[in-house]
Amino acid sequence: AHLWRGVLREYADRLGVTDASTVVTLGEGGTPLIPAPALSRRTGADVWVKFEGMNPTGSFKDRGMTVALSRAVEHGAKAVICASTGNTSASAAAYAAHAGITAAVLVPEGKIAMGKLSQAVAHNGRLIQIRGNFDDCLEIARELADHYPVHLVNSVNPDRIEGQKTAAYEVVEQLGDAPDFHFIPVGNAGNYTAYSRGYREEAARGVATKVPRMFGLQAAGSAPLVRGEVVKNPETIASAIRIGNPASWELALEAREATDGWFGAIDDEGILEAQKILAGEVGVFVEPASAISVAGLLSRAEAGVVPSGAKVVLTVTGHGLKDPQWALRKADGTTVEPTVVDAATSEVASVLDLQ
Ligand code: F0G
Repeated sequence: AHLWRGVLREYADRLGVTDASTVVTLGEGGTPLIPAPALSRRTGADVWVKFEGMNPTGSFKDRGMTVALSRAVEHGAKAVICASTGNTSASAAAYAAHAGITAAVLVPEGKIAMGKLSQAVAHNGRLIQIRGNFDDCLEIARELADHYPVHLVNSVNPDRIEGQKTAAYEVVEQLGDAPDFHFIPVGNAGNYTAYSRGYREEAARGVATKVPRMFGLQAAGSAPLVRGEVVKNPETIASAIRIGNPASWELALEAREATDGWFGAIDDEGILEAQKILAGEVGVFVEPASAISVAGLLSRAEAGVVPSGAKVVLTVTGHGLKDPQWALRKADGTTVEPTVVDAATSEVASVLDLQ
């Protein structure tokens, strides 16, 4: 059996590892690409799910964080800083803990999921809630990194994008070629940029015969790239992508152009419906922001944009356990109440309609 060693060691030749002694890894990457027959049936396409919730801290951020923290340590940094809607803070805190340095994380007050907040605290992150949104947090993090000895590990740091593009390498290896379409959630558009770059590299190397059309999805209340303008007060239940002024805006436009891509918006109900379908019919539980890839595919298939038999990969970026509350919410807004019965076999059999 091949034992996975984390993306920096697995792709050492591609990521330019200079000093093996400073590699900070928790074994990230090597995530499953799962066939989704239920989605194939619904759309007529051949649909696969890249489950990034399987990374050590439960999101794709770990792929970039291993590179960013390794470089920070290589440069002698004693502290890193990031702004975050939750997942970056969890990942930065975990990798900093492993490296034995400090992570300062700035998050919008009351707007990050409990699982992610718990992770940042558990990993000894210096967590600070800002009375503002993510875009305010990022502005402050950038200014602090400019003026103090703290190393910025948001995706504006090119090391993050470098690490994250390894997911596209893996998809090409897992499928034997690039897919025809790739659907992915978009917040800062760092990951959209990273996959586009990874796929284009594989095509240039001759490992893939094509580059997929990159379809990026934003929440309807938080869709600056779809609208073509900054959203001042972004709103969505998909807190991970509640971002009004994406940091990688220009890179994302370039990537869309180069891949014949597209940006679209999905409303919160559509996101929650897609989360239910993926968990209930494919067996993959993801946080709302990740489910937007599924919603995007369903909407594009319905619009006739995805030909029958087309190979489609959906990146689902974060684990459902990070923000589990939405799974218990019914379409009418009420909460799921699991059935309670006495401790008697016959009662359970009867409730389960077992004959
Ligand atoms: N999905 C999840 C689960 C995320 O946490 C994020 C971003 C995205 C998608 C969007 O990725 O920003 O590269 O376009 N989360 C960041 C954070 C902003 O702070 O955790 P992007």
